[in-house]
Amino acid sequence: MNKDIKQIILTSEEITRITMDIAGKINKDYIGKNLVLVGLLKGSICFMAELMKYIEVPCKIDFLAVSSYEDGTVSTGRVNVLKDMSMPAENMDILIVEDIIDSGNTLSFIVDLLKAKKCSSVEIATLLDKPSKRQKQVSVKYIGKEIEDLFVVGFGLDYAQYYRNLPYIGVLKESVYSEQK
Ligand code: IMP
Ligand code: MG
Repeated sequence: MNKDIKQIILTSEEITRITMDIAGKINKDYIGKNLVLVGLLKGSICFMAELMKYIEVPCKIDFLAVSSYEDGTVSTGRVNVLKDMSMPAENMDILIVEDIIDSGNTLSFIVDLLKAKKCSSVEIATLLDKPSKRQKQVSVKYIGKEIEDLFVVGFGLDYAQYYRNLPYIGVLKESVYSEQK
């Protein structure tokens, strides 16, 4: 285990099992629809790559890049669009693929942004959810696992752009971010 991780909350095997479960539901819910998986960069890359392997209905993929944390561990509430979708969203059934929902600020902003593009539907699939931190209510159709208010990294999730490459998700030792402040 990486020396900066204090506890593993999801092993790579558990992530696969949870992801296959979500894909199974999507495969039923999106029969006959125009599914586009829209991953939020960069955090969703591992979950997106895992999820799409188990999707059996026709689907396209795209990415959106936004920033809101600005290298800290607490949401700033400000969302900037760094990269918009690269294909038309009109009449498509968009499923936003996200690593984790915390305050809900990022997703509520993105849902409004996508709805303005006149797509047929917008839903959310997230690997992790921290419901205790919610500031804006967003309706999330697929949730992998609810976690407490802990700062986690790995499987796409970062701290100051590091740790995204870990194959599991773990709690970062507080000493790592207190040292850098
Ligand atoms: P929200 O706008 O507060 O819901 O923030 C969501 C975004 O913040 C996610 O897409 C993540 O990129 C990031 N984030 C939230 N919690 C964590 C965490 O525990 N570790 C790493 N990134 C996080
Ligand atoms: Mg993210």
